[in-house]
Amino acid sequence: MSETFSADWLSLREPFDRVARSAKLAAALASALPTRPRLIDLGAGTGSLFRWLAPLLARAQAWTLVDADAALLDEAFFRIATWAEANGYRVTTPGRAMLVHTPHGAWRVEALAQDLATTPERLPLREHDAVVCSALLDLVSAPWLEALASAIRSPFAAFLSVDGREVWLPRHADDRLLARAFARDMGRDKGFGPALGPRAPAHALRLFSARGHRVLSAPSDWIIPRVGHAMLRAMVTGHAAAAAAALPAAADRIDAWRERRLDQIARGRLALRIGHRDLLALPRS
Ligand SMILES: C[S@@+](CC[C@H](N)C(=O)[O-])C[C@H]1O[C@@H](n2cnc3c(N)ncnc32)[C@H](O)[C@@H]1O
Repeated sequence: MSETFSADWLSLREPFDRVARSAKLAAALASALPTRPRLIDLGAGTGSLFRWLAPLLARAQAWTLVDADAALLDEAFFRIATWAEANGYRVTTPGRAMLVHTPHGAWRVEALAQDLATTPERLPLREHDAVVCSALLDLVSAPWLEALASAIRSPFAAFLSVDGREVWLPRHADDRLLARAFARDMGRDKGFGPALGPRAPAHALRLFSARGHRVLSAPSDWIIPRVGHAMLRAMVTGHAAAAAAALPAAADRIDAWRERRLDQIARGRLALRIGHRDLLALPRS
């Protein structure tokens, strides 16, 4: 069964995602695409990647948003329409698609509710000029990523894969215990087999390089300042819950760590950096 993600969590992280993703890799992707590219976004959630990348591609384009969670896809249409109108773009809905009318041309969006874990070869990858995803690769398994890489013939851009680096400021004696336990939880099966977790960026880089792609990679860390209370609280409680599940013997130390960190957030004393990497794999023609 696929891991579920709430629309509220995806909203909370969206501003951090937006500033973290590499605009340089987006520009390299844009130069590799045709005049009116068709993109397929795997694990699209509420459409955060579309809202960031479509304006950077700055031309007429068509997107297929794929997710197992049909409610998130409904929310994606709603959020894209609201965002487009706030930017002064007209939105129309011919049939099942949505069209965002921009000065750069029309941006067509369609949704496909599908479980990605069932063989990637069944996805309509060849009907698209690029395969993109954001915050997905750390959920998938090595064999699943290998099957995807074999099926892809177009540019592949994977944004925001967790790489295991995390720096809490100020430091706490149990940060390493939490990081270890959290990394163990990240390797849990999220519906695709044992998850790559923080190994995802390095694994994807090796895999696509070995297949002869030109691979570009860039850091895309979340930098969560002391005023980012809601995001910091979500990170502390999320880390502590995942760590306690992975390491029940350390439950007392994990509780004490969580309480100390929540107290620091309330006093505006905690900041956090979470390591991510973006990757762009371009097939050599
Ligand atoms: C961390 S969220 C990222 C969402 C979005 N890409 C973003 O950047 O905000 C992971 C997304 O992958 C989707 N997902 C997880 N497992 C899936 C599966 N087996 N099939 C399809 N979608 C899946 C989730 O529903 C969720 O929307």
